[in-house]
Amino acid sequence: MFSSQSTMLVTGGAGFIGSNFIHYLFRQPDFEGSVVNFDKLTYAGNLENLSEIEEQYGGKRYLFEKGDICDSEKVSAVFAKYGVDTVVNFAAESHVDRSIHGPAEFIQTNIVGTFTLLEAARASWAGRKDVLFHHVSTDEVFGSLGESDFFHENTSYDPRSPYSASKAASDHLVSAYFHTYGLPVTISNCSNNYGPYHFPEKLIPLMILNMQEEKLLPVYGDGKNIRDWLFVEDHCSAIYAILKKGQRGETYNIGGENEWTNINLVNRLCEIVAEKKSKPKDHYKKLINYVNDRPGHDRRYAINCDKIKNELGWKRSVTFEEGLDRTVSWYLANLQWIDRVKSGAYRQWIEKNYEAR
Ligand code: NAD
Ligand code: TYD
Repeated sequence: MFSSQSTMLVTGGAGFIGSNFIHYLFRQPDFEGSVVNFDKLTYAGNLENLSEIEEQYGGKRYLFEKGDICDSEKVSAVFAKYGVDTVVNFAAESHVDRSIHGPAEFIQTNIVGTFTLLEAARASWAGRKDVLFHHVSTDEVFGSLGESDFFHENTSYDPRSPYSASKAASDHLVSAYFHTYGLPVTISNCSNNYGPYHFPEKLIPLMILNMQEEKLLPVYGDGKNIRDWLFVEDHCSAIYAILKKGQRGETYNIGGENEWTNINLVNRLCEIVAEKKSKPKDHYKKLINYVNDRPGHDRRYAINCDKIKNELGWKRSVTFEEGLDRTVSWYLANLQWIDRVKSGAYRQWIEKNYEAR
């Protein structure tokens, strides 16, 4: 059972969704426990995302451990040091395009890393039932949809990219540890997230930043691929609902019921940014540039999330209009964050402050 006093190991807590989740957790009045953020700080990990949390809770209810989820000694030591009773596994290599150019890291972190965490949990928890290993996964494991179908929890896995194949493998391992060893686990498969702290290689932040710099807006293929977008805070609330009420051994789909073709989304973003920067409505649309398609580009993702809505009472609370507005405003107000994330200056700060620990 979830306890408000839980000691939670959040892996990948310095990334996009992980850092939003830690912010979300500390805003919950019924969470009085502590969080150990375990992160390797790859190019995608940025502790600055959590500077307010560090200031307010650092050394007390918020602890940071720099480490690799593939490092079994370090992972086991962290379980023992803090008495971890809940794992929320966000740590992953997460970008499809990178997985096409260099799949090795994806196999290592997403598969071997998840396996290493599972082994550490199994050894440390030794049959305990008052614990939980929650694994955060993606709808991309289900492959590509035609025009009218939806992904359900029992849809067969059919991953098409090295990224989605590695996430699929990790999901299977988590499920196997439930059936074979009785490890208390839950899995969630979520659609595309957007919001603050999203690394500017992904569609929405990349487009906003390119507009800011008056650069071309690369749209893959014919631009008619469809994604189902969910504001990151709504993903966090869904995970929290699963931690509190999810059935052990179950999988939950999470989605925004909010399908957009990429080209319609990019056009809408162009309008929002133009409005905020007092430019003519079509100012940024002329930067749209159709480029070669991504190999193996999944055509459509769409989630049926009736199970989490009906069984756990979750629902999304942020409309797409509101979420996009908040996201664009956040990026335009945080251009220095972006410069630091992209420049590598931040990496040097980390090396100075954390490598020595
Ligand atoms: P991200 O790339 O922004 O962050 C990943 C984090 O993991 C970074 O902080 C990075 O430093 C850390 N990390 C990477 N390798 C590590 C390792 N070996 N050991 C420890 N830490 C490591 O990713 P994200 O978008 O926040 O995604 C988080 C999770 O959610 C992933 O598992 C991803 O598959 C899943 N997911 C993402 C989306 C989305 O739209 N972004 C949708 C559904 C599911
Ligand atoms: P992305 O943000 O990489 O997420 P995912 O591939 O995990 O869904 O891409 C979202 C969609 O946008 C996807 O269909 C690919 C497309 N895309 C572009 O058209 N141009 C771009 O520059 C990027 C990064 C993505």
